[in-house]
Amino acid sequence: MAAYTTKGGAAAMTVVVVGAGQAGVQTAASLRDNGYPGRVVLVGDEPGEPYQRPPLSKGYLEGTADAARLTLRGSSFFAKNDIDFLNTRVRRIDRDRKRVLTADGDELAYAHLVLATGSRNRALPVPGAALDGVFGLRTREDADVLRDRLGAAQHVVVIGGGFIGLEFAATAAKLGRSVTVVETVGRVLARVASPAVSAHYTDLHETHGNRILTGRTVTRLLGESSVTGVEVAGNGPDLVLPADLVVVGIGVIPNTELAADAGLAVDNGILVDECLSTSDSNVSAIGDCAAHSSPFASGPVRLESVQNAVDQARCVAAKLTGETAPYRSVPWFWSDQFHTKLQIAGLANGYDRTVVSGEPGAFSVFCFQGERLRAVESVNRPADHMAARRLFAAGTGLHPDDIDDGFELKRHLASAG
Ligand code: NAI
Repeated sequence: MAAYTTKGGAAAMTVVVVGAGQAGVQTAASLRDNGYPGRVVLVGDEPGEPYQRPPLSKGYLEGTADAARLTLRGSSFFAKNDIDFLNTRVRRIDRDRKRVLTADGDELAYAHLVLATGSRNRALPVPGAALDGVFGLRTREDADVLRDRLGAAQHVVVIGGGFIGLEFAATAAKLGRSVTVVETVGRVLARVASPAVSAHYTDLHETHGNRILTGRTVTRLLGESSVTGVEVAGNGPDLVLPADLVVVGIGVIPNTELAADAGLAVDNGILVDECLSTSDSNVSAIGDCAAHSSPFASGPVRLESVQNAVDQARCVAAKLTGETAPYRSVPWFWSDQFHTKLQIAGLANGYDRTVVSGEPGAFSVFCFQGERLRAVESVNRPADHMAARRLFAAGTGLHPDDIDDGFELKRHLASAG
């Protein structure tokens, strides 16, 4: 692969972006949208064209979205926008010489470096986790394997009742498999949502034939070369769940090694200031790997969402094209399971009171810390969600007592002017 050489003034204008996921690709695209005149190099180590992850646990797994629908940006986009896309891995950052070294042996000089290295799945720390039939779901390759294996699977167990576990379980159920989900804490979606939402999703899955076990710890996976069972302890008698397909979705670890090896400040994420600069002002970090301060959290926070990846990419691209501004975007998330859409605006942490409005199949949960609204979780209430995003963006308050029978956030905002 041809290395970009660093002669003359070119290197002085080169932005190198490490990681070609949602955040990295958006950075390159936004730099060009903003008219950035220098060289833009995007380096990604996953095989093939950059792709989006959300369909992997939904339409792509189900077979309703094909590989072409996954592509974020293809080679024609990169050619047209004069973006050098290098399909390789960055091995080291030399901050003194402002260069990165790739696995192909190339050296790329940068004026500014953007780290969009993402995160990787946490490994299940129990015996048997390396047996055949045990998979994670993060990459296109993972989804391809699972698509293939799901067809023949008789007994499917999901470990982890977070977004990945539940979205996979919903898709598997749609494909006629019944799934047992084993979650270690007392309720599903505990990291991201309130108890009311967790209860709704437990019911939803059980209605569709899935089994949800909470407060249970997986102690061992059984089998000779392929998995045959999952041993589970806690919250009742020990169990062995028969299994020929196990999906592990127990959270992620940020990819911070490159940054840490280069001496950048790291603490559960690459630490960045409000303009997303690391402890070296020539290096920014964005997306899953970056820990940033936020008006929505008390300390540095890492957000694992498409919204955060895209908005942080835009923020850094703006900084590099002369429009420096603090990152203040309203966090939002979504999850599609069965025919139910969950949308969350704000961050549901630190709250001490919730108020629910709506009816059982379509409701919103307003999460307050004292009288301060922290998050709005909407189940099949998209109008509430969009209104909540507007409310947070405007910094408008909402008092818990404002939420009465028949409350609609959109109407409330309109009447509040
Ligand atoms: P997660 O952090 O959302 O959920 C992991 C779940 O596993 C938690 O409920 C946790 O309590 C549980 N857990 C941890 N250790 C366990 C163990 N040993 N046994 C059983 N349960 C255990 O992470 P998840 O679901 O793996 O997703 C990975 C990443 O992908 C996250 O960043 C997530 O936000 C993202 N994602 C987002 C989606 C969305 O926004 N709709 C969809 C799918 C993934």
